[in-house]
Amino acid sequence: MAPRQCPIGAATIAFSLAVIISVVSAAAPAPAPAPANKNHTVGGAAGWFYNTSSVAPSANYSDWAASQTFYLGDFLIFNTNTNSSVVQTGNDTTYSLCDASNDDGNQTFLWGSDGGDSNSSNPEVLEIPLIYEGPNYFFSDTMDGEQCQNGMKFEINVLHGNGLPPALKQPPSPSPVPKPLPPTSTGGDGSSNENQTSEKNGVEGIRGGFVLAILGMLSLFLTTV
Ligand SMILES: *[C@@H]1O[C@H](CO)[C@@H](O)[C@H](O)[C@H]1NC(C)=O
Ligand SMILES: *[C@@H]1O[C@H](CO)[C@@H](O)[C@H](O)[C@H]1NC(C)=O
Ligand SMILES: *[C@@H]1O[C@H](CO)[C@@H](O)[C@H](O)[C@H]1NC(C)=O
Ligand SMILES: *[C@@H]1O[C@H](CO)[C@@H](O)[C@H](O)[C@H]1NC(C)=O
Ligand SMILES: *[C@@H]1O[C@H](CO)[C@@H](O)[C@H](O)[C@H]1NC(C)=O
Ligand SMILES: *[C@@H]1O[C@H](CO)[C@@H](O)[C@H](O)[C@H]1NC(C)=O
Ligand SMILES: *[C@@H]1O[C@H](CO)[C@@H](O)[C@H](O)[C@H]1NC(C)=O
Ligand SMILES: *[C@@H]1O[C@H](CO)[C@@H](O)[C@H](O)[C@H]1NC(C)=O
Repeated sequence: MAPRQCPIGAATIAFSLAVIISVVSAAAPAPAPAPANKNHTVGGAAGWFYNTSSVAPSANYSDWAASQTFYLGDFLIFNTNTNSSVVQTGNDTTYSLCDASNDDGNQTFLWGSDGGDSNSSNPEVLEIPLIYEGPNYFFSDTMDGEQCQNGMKFEINVLHGNGLPPALKQPPSPSPVPKPLPPTSTGGDGSSNENQTSEKNGVEGIRGGFVLAILGMLSLFLTTV
């Protein structure tokens, strides 16, 4: 009977339209996915080491940095040893001087060994969260800036991405705080003549600056909630 075919035909058309629409919408480009947070191993497999014989770093860090894209909430992983340090700063003067000792500002932090007076070469892994958008500078201040002057340095631009993950809004303690050196007993030549709890010029200022930065961010966090 002809009248019965009509609703079937309409249903078929409606179904076909639904299929077409769903196929078309599935094929339509999805909004660009927000980048997932990533860990960047500094220098790749070569790590963050300085060769005192060849007077050269183990990698070209500016080339390495140029190959990466950095977002808030990513981590930099420094595979290094206590012969080198990592200063993180937003202060381009300090960066260009390869010297943090006259920088008491709140943008400059020392990670890892304070270096310089350490003859040991204990392995060390530093995991540094990227919590500042914009230019971030990294260098080793060990050997009075000599390592930095010979290439132990790089700058990156941290993009907003998804913004700072909640877990990093209040920086986890103690991980962003400079870590103590590993115990002397794990080896290293000449380690007996170093005092691992002593602090050199500037280090106290850097650590004090970091405490202020934490307090600042904490109060910012508390006033925004
Ligand atoms: C990146 O490193 C951090 C700090 O060690 C760690 O908590 C996190 O799980 C790592 N993420 C990935 C994707 O490996
Ligand atoms: C350091 O440099 C010296 C001289 O160029 C080289 O013989 C040595 O293998 C290097 N050490 C490492 C760990 O790369
Ligand atoms: C940047 O560092 C220099 C010394 O390296 C210091 O004189 C200056 O006050 C610092 N600026 C800020 C904003 O902390
Ligand atoms: C390492 O120790 C030796 C002997 O104690 C000393 O002469 C040398 O200056 C030290 N090196 C550094 C980089 O502190
Ligand atoms: C650590 O530095 C000392 C000199 O300060 C050097 O003799 C030694 O080879 C270095 N070790 C490594 C693994 O770079
Ligand atoms: C790293 O490589 C670039 C060229 O890609 C060069 O201009 C720069 O001087 C190198 N840096 C070091 C420290 O060798
Ligand atoms: C290391 O330095 C700290 C602080 O200056 C001091 O209290 C301690 O006695 C020193 N330890 C050694 C073994 O020299
Ligand atoms: C550092 O200090 C400046 C000026 O006092 C302030 O505007 C800024 O928010 C501070 N940054 C942090 C990370 O505390």
